[in-house]
Amino acid sequence: MFPGRRPALNTVAVTTGISFHPLRIPPYLLPDSAAVDPQSGHLAVGGVDLLELAARFGTPLFVYDEAHLRERCRQAVAAWGDGVAYGSKAFLCVAMARLAHEEGMWIDVATGGELHVVLAAGVPAGRVVMHGNNKSSDELRAAVEAGVGRIVVDSFDEIDRLEALAAGPDWRPPQVLVRVTPGIEAHTHEYVMTGQADSKFGFGLAGGRAAEAVRRLSRSDAVELVGIHAHIGSQIFLTESYRREVEVLAGFFRPLDLPELCVGGGLGVPYVADESAPSLAQWAEVVKAACGEFGIPASTRVTAEPGRSIAAAAGMTLYRVGTIKDIPGVRTYVAVDGGMSDNPRPVLYGSGYETFLARCPEDERARTVTVVGKHCESGDFIVRNAHVPADIAVDDILVTPVTGAYGHSMASNYNKVTRPAVVFVGGGAARLVVRRETPDDLLRLEVLDG
Ligand code: LLP
Repeated sequence: MFPGRRPALNTVAVTTGISFHPLRIPPYLLPDSAAVDPQSGHLAVGGVDLLELAARFGTPLFVYDEAHLRERCRQAVAAWGDGVAYGSKAFLCVAMARLAHEEGMWIDVATGGELHVVLAAGVPAGRVVMHGNNKSSDELRAAVEAGVGRIVVDSFDEIDRLEALAAGPDWRPPQVLVRVTPGIEAHTHEYVMTGQADSKFGFGLAGGRAAEAVRRLSRSDAVELVGIHAHIGSQIFLTESYRREVEVLAGFFRPLDLPELCVGGGLGVPYVADESAPSLAQWAEVVKAACGEFGIPASTRVTAEPGRSIAAAAGMTLYRVGTIKDIPGVRTYVAVDGGMSDNPRPVLYGSGYETFLARCPEDERARTVTVVGKHCESGDFIVRNAHVPADIAVDDILVTPVTGAYGHSMASNYNKVTRPAVVFVGGGAARLVVRRETPDDLLRLEVLDG
């Protein structure tokens, strides 16, 4: 497949069969338990009114439907079996690590920091997969001392480091996978094959670097080589991209006679009204069928690392509208009390979101405005062309759904804005799992008499 040639969208996650009014928020962008309260007309998630949550915990606020998170973890385990890991970079806190572990997932961490949080959550290290394209000796030592289940080896320098560490006392050779760069880059609706892989991650298949890494690791006493890993991108809507990944990997993997193959994460999710994506089950089915088609032995433990597809639609952000600036003939700016510090995705990737008001989620969103944050940047957009009800007013609680992945985890303190709290809701109750930062938190790293 070449750039520009787009395969048809072959699988659809959300087949409701109902067509939604284009000016209303499609239910498939909301958490599973979202429901409109028949009395108040407000939206409730997990049986809790969003306006009550905003009043109790303040705004901006990340709200997660706990049952939705658990259900996606269960779907992942049912689809892939033991070994499927939650890509914790999508959203990580102690409560989330515990939840994913309780539901039977392993946890994929990309840094020593993520490892620290996951271990603090009480997740057994043996169910953690350690990633990173530049793991330090300290990170590697901490991972091996903790007894992580797998390390995904990413560079020749890392192999050198592992061997140097293994020469020291008390080294227990970890089970490792080799991260291979298959030369496929998957985009939302296409994938491209690059002649030689241009990536900071892993070992290229082209040029024999991956083969050389396998040679070194299989001879090394520092590690036990158990498999091959690849990851072709994120927010992928086409299962065909994964079939292609397996096809490319199979030729390399088959002769190695190793027990494990991990195809990485990347399954996409719909963010806006006209998008749809394969389900976790459909994704696994396609990968497993491709493994059969391309001769991967049936005994191979085939795994994956979904992040976004577990957490994104479970979460939403509640903001309070602060100012509405109508510039006649130009646009209307609706400014909320967060912005690029709690959701940098629109600024970084031009990502689109939907919006609605918590008090009237079913109202027609007949007015088009631009939702912006409170940061000192003109580019601080949350939604460029947001549909909102015509009577939107200051103090309204404006919601952006599908912010459960790569929102809180990429949040910053830009402009010394404090990071939002996170609540899990379910069964009519809300529990705070990450408290809101306070102004004093902004000083906690300062050496005040320095
Ligand atoms: N495994 C590996 C090795 C990864 O690098 C990633 C994501 C995942 C698993 C999980 O991928 P997911 O299923 O969540 O797509 N900040 C970007 C996404 C970066 C993804 C990085 N790697 C965004 O907000 O779209």
